[in-house]
Amino acid sequence: MKATISSEPVKHFPVLLKELISIISPQYGGTFIDCTFGQAGYTNKILEFPDTKVIALDRDKQCENKAKLLSKKFDERFFFKNLRFSQLSNLKLKNENIKTVIFDLGYSLNQIKDKKKGLSFNSTGKLNMQMGLNDFSAHEVINKLAKDELVKIFKFYGEEKESKKIVKNIILERKKKFLETQDLVRIINYSKKNKNFRINNSTKVFQALRIFVNKEISELINGLIIASKVLKKNGILAVVTFHSIEDKIVKYFFKSLSEKKGVSRYMPEINTDSTIFELKKKKPILPSKEEILKNPPSRTAKLRYVIKKIDTYEFKTDVKDKFKDLLDIENFSKKL
Ligand SMILES: C[S@@+](CC[C@H](N)C(=O)[O-])C[C@H]1O[C@@H](n2cnc3c(N)ncnc32)[C@H](O)[C@@H]1O
Repeated sequence: MKATISSEPVKHFPVLLKELISIISPQYGGTFIDCTFGQAGYTNKILEFPDTKVIALDRDKQCENKAKLLSKKFDERFFFKNLRFSQLSNLKLKNENIKTVIFDLGYSLNQIKDKKKGLSFNSTGKLNMQMGLNDFSAHEVINKLAKDELVKIFKFYGEEKESKKIVKNIILERKKKFLETQDLVRIINYSKKNKNFRINNSTKVFQALRIFVNKEISELINGLIIASKVLKKNGILAVVTFHSIEDKIVKYFFKSLSEKKGVSRYMPEINTDSTIFELKKKKPILPSKEEILKNPPSRTAKLRYVIKKIDTYEFKTDVKDKFKDLLDIENFSKKL
């Protein structure tokens, strides 16, 4: 797991928790949306403050057990839905007074340890990588997609430089049998010439597959757009990312909606001379040395946030045009 994995197997560390809490100020109360409930690290902390209410989402149905316990304890102050955050509009929050929306992207310790999910390159058996509410699995991707499609997935979602060699060998080997998780690991290991001793050989391909199987690019872009709509004036949108593709999208989205663009087709329709957000800090907030020591996978975490400046539900953004190449890759799954 990225966000919350620890060197001690069972301990859960919510990433950048102190920093997040100081930005979102739950001591003043209000309604918070936790789009990535996970192990309830952020939600629990927010609910410690008596005047808060949390609406939590997670695509993983297994989060429901933890959510039920919190519902019992906090009754009206806590509400959970097993939804993808791109489905946030299902909750009809247009007229709610939403103070903050939080995303802590990636996956949790429970998910990486869940052998059936197969998110880790240490997993055995059939390829999967579904986090929940998916349409297809990594098994179908690796065993069915065309050569050029796999190369693009590995290259653009994993930034894997040796994609072509790896895919050539996948295509050769899958003629003999369906490839499982450890077949893929073995193929990557013998295909790669330039071994990187800082990360596992399989890291980039596994990241790429996870992003593709979970449609993480459209999830993030649609999640950011709908979150920005439901926020009220002075509301805060805070996002923790773990790899450069996610961070690039969040950075662009925040920056482009925080700048006055004059007469641009991307300006909000209603407030033509206002920007949607105020960007307080251009640079992301990073974990301290102490946090990285305690929880090494937090080292790639970046926290960015913006404050909504106007009460508008409708606005325009060019974020989908900007990341069209990444979004188009998701269409390869249509034939699966
Ligand atoms: C890093 S964990 C969150 C940890 C949480 N902040 C905590 O402190 O316990 C990420 C969670 O987001 C969920 N998730 C990832 N993508 C999602 C999506 N598109 N919609 C809803 N949940 C998602 C995962 O299932 C996982 O439980």
